[in-house]
Amino acid sequence: MLNHFISLKDLSAKDIMALLALTARIKKNPAAFRKKLAGKTVGLLFQKPSLRTKTSFYVAVLELGASPIYFSPQEVRLGERESVSDAAKTLSRYLDCVVLRTFSHEVIRDFIKVSDIPVINGLSGLVHPAQILGDLFTLYELKKDFKKIKFAYIGDGNNIAHSLLYAFSLLGGNIAIAHPVGYAPEDQIVKEAREFARKSGATIDIGNDPKGAASGADVLYADVWTSMGDEAEHEDRVKIFKDFQLNGGLMQLAKKDCLIMHCLPAHRGEEITDDVIDSKNSVVFDQAENRLHTAKAILLHLLSK
Ligand code: CP
Ligand code: NVA
Repeated sequence: MLNHFISLKDLSAKDIMALLALTARIKKNPAAFRKKLAGKTVGLLFQKPSLRTKTSFYVAVLELGASPIYFSPQEVRLGERESVSDAAKTLSRYLDCVVLRTFSHEVIRDFIKVSDIPVINGLSGLVHPAQILGDLFTLYELKKDFKKIKFAYIGDGNNIAHSLLYAFSLLGGNIAIAHPVGYAPEDQIVKEAREFARKSGATIDIGNDPKGAASGADVLYADVWTSMGDEAEHEDRVKIFKDFQLNGGLMQLAKKDCLIMHCLPAHRGEEITDDVIDSKNSVVFDQAENRLHTAKAILLHLLSK
């Protein structure tokens, strides 16, 4: 049983599969879970904008019978208006759980040091485990066996790439990451993923060749070239990442029935073209929907003790 949901690296393959199995039960029969968290209150404290994470957790909380409270980036100003630790201690007296979205992952680390209530990472600059759990559920429904998947991520070695690395290295699939020089995933995360892969039999291939990564792939995944917090670099990044666009040419190299995935929001015409994201192979809105079902599984896992 986890106390918090901060990074997929804290889970075992068995934990992930249990969360996916619980998600399947919830998705099939949501009514059976309607009162499971009655009387609980969940805070959503976000330092950055959000459409999917805010809405999916907010609706998940409501549909499980609990009450949500949303704090926008301007309201709390964690670490600025007051220390992260004072805010965490205070919220622990009012709430049963908190979903945090932060720039720095350190804020989440500092928060859980003193928090008496479970904390869910709703995206940090380092990792985005709630997104990738939804993506894994999408793959679980469509492909079943992670070990047989040849997965290619094209783009920035960012929070999404990091959580994908943990996911596939734990579950034993084959993951290739193609990134521009200078935009590799963090060394420490790659090191940890390689450790997991040694046990699970996963293969990890990280390089600068999008065509090589996409060749024969079962899944092609894109994320924005400019993440939240990196906006000042946007103009440079558009030039640096131009050969890392998920377009029709790259898609042709993958398997005919390859899945097109994107965590959204998409910057159409930058990291992904309209013809690809709108193609019949695209499952981006299934990914978005599955955020709701997996959010419920995470909340139930942490709160129904
Ligand atoms: N994918 C995702 O986390 O979307 P939001 O930033 O809109 O929450
Ligand atoms: N890498 C993106 C993901 C958005 C869901 C960001 O951090 O902005």
